Amino acid sequence: MKSTMSVSVALVFLELFAISSFCSGNSYVGCTDSEREALLKLKQDLKDPSNRLGSWVVDGDCCKWAEVVCSNLTGHVLQLSLRNPFRNDLRYATTEYEDYMRSMLSGNVNPSLVDLKHLTHLDLSGNDFQGIRIPKYLGSLKNLRYLNLSGAEFAGIIPHQLGNLSNLRCLDLSWSEYALQVHSFSWLSGLSLLEHLDLSQMNLNKASDWLLGTISSIGLENLTSIKTIDLSLNFELGGPIPTSFVRLCELTSIDVSDVKLSQDLSQVLDILSACGASALESLVLSSSQISGHLTSQLGQFKSLRTLSLDDNCISGPLPPALGDLSSLTRLDLSRNMLNGSIPLSLGKISHLEYLDLSNNKMNGTLSEIHFVNLTKLTWFSASGNSLILQVNPYWVPPFQLKTLLLMSCHLGPQFPSWLHSQKNLSVLDISNARISDTIPRWFWNSIFQYEYLNISSNQIYGEIPDFDPLPPHTPALRPILDLSNNSLSGSMIHFICNGENKSHSIYFQKVSKNNFSGDIPDCWMNWPNLHVLNLGNNNFSGSLPISMGTLSSLLSLNLRNNRLSGLIPESFKNFSNLEVLNLGDNEFVGKIPTWMGEGFTSLLILILRSNKFDGFLPIQLCRLTSLQILDVANNSLSGTMPGCVNNFSAMATIDSSHQSNAMSYFEVTAYDCEVLEDASIVMKGSMVEYNSILNLVRIIDVSKNNFSGEIPMELTYLRGLQSLNFLSFLNHLNVSNNLLTGKIPSSTQLQSFDASCFVGNNLCGPPLPNCTENNARAPEDPNGNAEQDEDEVDWLLYVSIAVGFVVGFWCFIGPLLLNRGWRYKYCRFLDGCMDRFGCFVSKF
Ligand SMILES: *[C@@H]1O[C@H](CO)[C@@H](O)[C@H](O)[C@H]1NC(C)=O
Ligand SMILES: *[C@@H]1O[C@H](CO)[C@@H](O)[C@H](O)[C@H]1NC(C)=O
Ligand SMILES: *[C@@H]1O[C@H](CO)[C@@H](O)[C@H](O)[C@H]1NC(C)=O
Ligand SMILES: *[C@@H]1O[C@H](CO)[C@@H](O)[C@H](O)[C@H]1NC(C)=O
Ligand SMILES: *[C@@H]1O[C@H](CO)[C@@H](O)[C@H](O)[C@H]1NC(C)=O
Ligand SMILES: *[C@@H]1O[C@H](CO)[C@@H](O)[C@H](O)[C@H]1NC(C)=O
Ligand SMILES: *[C@@H]1O[C@H](CO)[C@@H](O)[C@H](O)[C@H]1NC(C)=O
Ligand SMILES: *[C@@H]1O[C@H](CO)[C@@H](O)[C@H](O)[C@H]1NC(C)=O
Ligand SMILES: *[C@@H]1O[C@H](CO)[C@@H](O)[C@H](O)[C@H]1NC(C)=O
Ligand SMILES: *[C@@H]1O[C@H](CO)[C@@H](O)[C@H](O)[C@H]1NC(C)=O
Ligand SMILES: *[C@@H]1O[C@H](CO)[C@@H](O)[C@H](O)[C@H]1NC(C)=O
Ligand SMILES: *[C@@H]1O[C@H](CO)[C@@H](O)[C@H](O)[C@H]1NC(C)=O
Repeated sequence: MKSTMSVSVALVFLELFAISSFCSGNSYVGCTDSEREALLKLKQDLKDPSNRLGSWVVDGDCCKWAEVVCSNLTGHVLQLSLRNPFRNDLRYATTEYEDYMRSMLSGNVNPSLVDLKHLTHLDLSGNDFQGIRIPKYLGSLKNLRYLNLSGAEFAGIIPHQLGNLSNLRCLDLSWSEYALQVHSFSWLSGLSLLEHLDLSQMNLNKASDWLLGTISSIGLENLTSIKTIDLSLNFELGGPIPTSFVRLCELTSIDVSDVKLSQDLSQVLDILSACGASALESLVLSSSQISGHLTSQLGQFKSLRTLSLDDNCISGPLPPALGDLSSLTRLDLSRNMLNGSIPLSLGKISHLEYLDLSNNKMNGTLSEIHFVNLTKLTWFSASGNSLILQVNPYWVPPFQLKTLLLMSCHLGPQFPSWLHSQKNLSVLDISNARISDTIPRWFWNSIFQYEYLNISSNQIYGEIPDFDPLPPHTPALRPILDLSNNSLSGSMIHFICNGENKSHSIYFQKVSKNNFSGDIPDCWMNWPNLHVLNLGNNNFSGSLPISMGTLSSLLSLNLRNNRLSGLIPESFKNFSNLEVLNLGDNEFVGKIPTWMGEGFTSLLILILRSNKFDGFLPIQLCRLTSLQILDVANNSLSGTMPGCVNNFSAMATIDSSHQSNAMSYFEVTAYDCEVLEDASIVMKGSMVEYNSILNLVRIIDVSKNNFSGEIPMELTYLRGLQSLNFLSFLNHLNVSNNLLTGKIPSSTQLQSFDASCFVGNNLCGPPLPNCTENNARAPEDPNGNAEQDEDEVDWLLYVSIAVGFVVGFWCFIGPLLLNRGWRYKYCRFLDGCMDRFGCFVSKF
């Protein structure tokens, strides 16, 4: 009692002092020596590579230091905001990400921090404390109202001392990369004034004593001041929203995404509406295993601005009462089992900006009336439903969309001319929408404005006119253009050579499965950002243009199934990042260039089948240490196939280059599934395996050539590696229809292949009939060349390569599969493309 008295006396005195100094015009106090000392000690223990604390110098006024805020009256440090000034946008190799990484503080948090007794605001978020414990002594900063440790890379047990921060209004422990541990959350009940609690993505360690793992065990029911709760992305958490939540009457926002509630939607809504549903502004229950129906009960939540129920099992129709949620700006009902038609009352939600109804089972017609009052809509998706969009061709919508996704909706047969009114559109998916029409010139003009444009799988026909493209709205990082699987015809010259000397920023371009013909135009210097190019399944003829060699960023080039001829140009040497090259089913001639093995060091897929290549497989191809698919079938290649055993063990080791390959391979296939679709031609009958986890395929197909000699015995040495049990490493080996002789080496792997993979040679032994005296012995080499020929490929090596790749691959992708948190981050890294555009999601 006595001490409280003296404290308040002191406070009054201080205040008087402050007022008097204010009156005398001397309002600025400056920092106290002890607090400056404390800050300097703090700095001493921090590593600060970007020199964010450069202004923290020994004889300075610490109130003027960066990231420090003092009281103007007392000079005490009130706020310490050491938050990383850059946002982690989770996209590796972008400048934002690099800035973020560079600006991280690391090291230790010096206990002198507790000398900043008046601290109300402490923000250490976005730094890298590299797995040290959250300091216990934070619990003695009694005046703290704001504590943010989000993404600060602390690890271990969360100290219960945090429960002593009885003035705390805001606590953020989210986004932990390292595993955190909790014995119990009972300390939370000490934070009785808490208004904002963010425990999302805490990466809670399984070793926590906290065995219950349910929402109720967190004990939030006594935090009656709480306004916002974020428990999302805690995959360890489960169980329904506890009924005790009825006491949380101040609640305006709750996010429990990825927490397995396993609950009926109406139960959730009952609890949340108990003390007046009207306060709730944000309800996010994505991926929470919620079932049931949307009912008129929803209409009570009149203040809702955000409602996200995506990725659940909600079924039945949309209730007309949805229209009563007049404050909604964001509505996400995607990936459920909603059926029936869309009620007209949708048009009443006049504040709606974001509407996602994709991937449900809705049918019926969408018309102008549905949108009449949606003047603010900028993002709309109804992809993956059977909806019919039936509007007057002269319709001028009340909105200006930025994103429109109507994949597999029925828009045709006419091209949707109302799109002409949408001046801000940068993401458009009208693929598989039953459009059978020509593309109007105004649309061609807008084609380079998109960040993402997908008009594939329609029956769009006609030639590309000489159009006059508009510049993009905002230069996108990776613009994607997909015109594939239509009936476009004629030359591509206006498209490729458009705007002489003007470069396009397109990253991905796919025009495969059309009827384009003539030469491939020679203007590729205008496409410096092209990473993925697919011109396959058209009628292009002639030889490859030299300027294609300027596409030095290419990751994937698919020219399959055209009538292209001539040699592979020398200028292709420049494709040093190439991962996929498919030249199959053309009329290319000549030898397979040796520089492919030297230059294409990242190559994963090489398909040259069904051309007129001759000569040996160059030994240099052995250097393609990441190769997963080698398909040179149906050419006129010759020579023997000995083993490069010497290199073998080195190839099977893990090295980091495999990991980066795995990552971009993943990106390439995420954007262009056709890469593998085409490769699958060689794999009839193995599609199940082929489509299995992450399309981890390994194929060698050298069939229908003139290869001679024996299958090397060395293959059997691979048994040892098999016992490492990294999946079966070679999915498919086809050596049929060559001039090979002798016994097929016995190894479980080879024997498991179908006999058809070996026929058309003079081979014997399982899976072919047993050897007899006649065919068991290898005949003399027809060229009289028993020694290893320098120019011959060692395909044993490929097998070993595959093993090495699997090892590297699992080091990288394995954790993604096992840890859903990581998976989430990785999906975010892929720009959300996986959800919206990607074809790869379902396999992931
Ligand atoms: C202190 O004064 C400065 C300028 O006079 C003002 O910008 C700042 O907001 C004040 N800080 C506090 C904590 O009141
Ligand atoms: C904590 O800091 C992060 C940035 O590092 C920010 O995104 C987040 O909103 C902050 N949390 C709170 C509750 O202010
Ligand atoms: C909390 O503070 C009280 C007194 O202020 C102290 O006795 C107690 O040990 C503290 N508890 C923790 C867990 O730090
Ligand atoms: C909440 O308060 C009640 C009554 O004050 C108490 O019995 C209960 O233990 C508290 N719950 C938690 C989790 O602290
Ligand atoms: C919606 O699905 C349910 C079964 O899940 C079915 O009984 C009902 O007829 C469907 N309604 C419509 C309009 O398709
Ligand atoms: C659109 O808004 C107007 C005026 O607020 C209202 O009269 C009309 O009923 C609304 N239309 C729909 C379809 O909700
Ligand atoms: C929607 O689908 C249901 C069930 O398949 C069917 O009964 C109904 O006629 C369809 N409605 C429309 C408008 O196509
Ligand atoms: C396009 O978007 C910008 C920025 O969001 C906005 O200022 C502009 O008004 C929009 N244009 C139209 C035609 O709506
Ligand atoms: C091509 O488009 C048609 C519709 O026009 C679609 O049925 C078919 O599945 C598409 N093919 C591919 C491979 O996408
Ligand atoms: C395009 O570039 C070429 C060579 O750099 C030059 O000869 C030609 O004049 C340029 N054309 C235009 C329209 O700038
Ligand atoms: C082939 O030989 C193996 C043993 O080497 C024997 O088990 C098998 O029955 C033989 N198969 C035929 C078809 O003769
Ligand atoms: C374009 O749409 C088709 C069909 O909906 C889809 O299969 C394809 O993956 C999409 N293309 C891209 C690049 O996303």
